[in-house]
Amino acid sequence: MARLGVLLMAVFISAIALEQSFVNAKFSKSIFFNSGGNSMSAILGDGDDLQLVLDRMAGSRIQSKRDFLFGSIEMLIKLVPGNSAGVVTAYYLSSSNWTIHDEIDFEFLGNASGQPYIIHTNIYTQGIGNKEQQFYPWFDPTDDYHNYTIHWNPTEIVWYVDSLPIRVFRNYEKEGIAYPSQQAMRVYSSLWDADNWATCGGLLKTNWTNAPFIARFRQFRPKACLWVGPISTSQCANNTDPANWWTSPVYQQLGYAQLGQLKWVQDNYMVYDYCKDFKRFNGQMGPECSKPQF
Ligand SMILES: *[C@@H]1O[C@H](CO)[C@@H](O)[C@H](O)[C@H]1NC(C)=O
Ligand SMILES: *[C@@H]1O[C@H](CO)[C@@H](O)[C@H](O)[C@H]1NC(C)=O
Ligand SMILES: *[C@@H]1O[C@H](CO)[C@@H](O)[C@H](O)[C@H]1NC(C)=O
Ligand SMILES: *[C@@H]1O[C@H](CO)[C@@H](O)[C@H](O)[C@H]1NC(C)=O
Ligand SMILES: *[C@@H]1O[C@H](CO)[C@@H](O)[C@H](O)[C@H]1NC(C)=O
Repeated sequence: MARLGVLLMAVFISAIALEQSFVNAKFSKSIFFNSGGNSMSAILGDGDDLQLVLDRMAGSRIQSKRDFLFGSIEMLIKLVPGNSAGVVTAYYLSSSNWTIHDEIDFEFLGNASGQPYIIHTNIYTQGIGNKEQQFYPWFDPTDDYHNYTIHWNPTEIVWYVDSLPIRVFRNYEKEGIAYPSQQAMRVYSSLWDADNWATCGGLLKTNWTNAPFIARFRQFRPKACLWVGPISTSQCANNTDPANWWTSPVYQQLGYAQLGQLKWVQDNYMVYDYCKDFKRFNGQMGPECSKPQF
């Protein structure tokens, strides 16, 4: 009976923890627009849909009201259709202190009609970025909503696209390699003009006759640990707390089937890997590049 009680208690606590992050998950409750953004950007329907708009006058950015440390951040996104060359849609987690900046990025680099988008990923740890990996999507990201999820726990970060892992960044903090584990991050999304670099290295420019450009977002779900101050660094990483599902052993390393999926994506759709760009780094590759990646 006592055991059952403990079990029920655990289920109850998990339910509360999940509820905390599900409640107010709707855009209307959980995000705000940064000022100066495009006035056509809006939350739609019952609050679970959002459009970000870019025209010659302005782009747009939203950010979550709450800060998180570990968990999964899920968003369905339908990218700008047609000629989106020069236009970048970003969806990322970012800390607030620039000197020790942590960031986990998805960025979608637009293209001419019929040409492939690039799914650009990056991570900043303690102020240092330069860890890009890029992929072509294996689907048309403008025809419908697709699921872009960042899974972040004390052991590893996994970028998922429609539940297929495309990238992993493991925690090698014990070996002196920085990892985002000490600071809260907030969720951001933006739509902006980056035609100086985004498409074909900046050669293809934004064609403003196609404006306004519209990216659509749906079902933002932060199933994550809410940051309540510095004590969260131990609370959110506490692997004996049953509410912290992200610390459970199944999330410490990809399983066999997931490794197969990751390999399929990386073998067939990877466009760029910073760990293979010896020229750019003059042979001085990041220390994590010589560690097991998955
Ligand atoms: C940012 O981090 C640095 C280095 O830890 C620290 O000295 C500084 O006070 C922090 N700034 C803010 C605004 O918290
Ligand atoms: C999105 O992907 C994540 C990671 O695979 C998954 O847990 C979640 O259920 C998916 N959400 C939807 C709405 O498909
Ligand atoms: C755009 O299309 C060109 C030609 O197919 C391709 O080389 C490039 O990688 C695509 N994506 C971007 C973002 O430039
Ligand atoms: C921009 O788009 C318009 C409308 O699709 C098209 O007529 C025009 O040729 C495009 N301009 C350039 C420079 O590609
Ligand atoms: C971790 O969680 C367990 C179970 O909820 C709790 O008893 C323990 O005090 C927590 N430890 C820390 C450091 O928060």
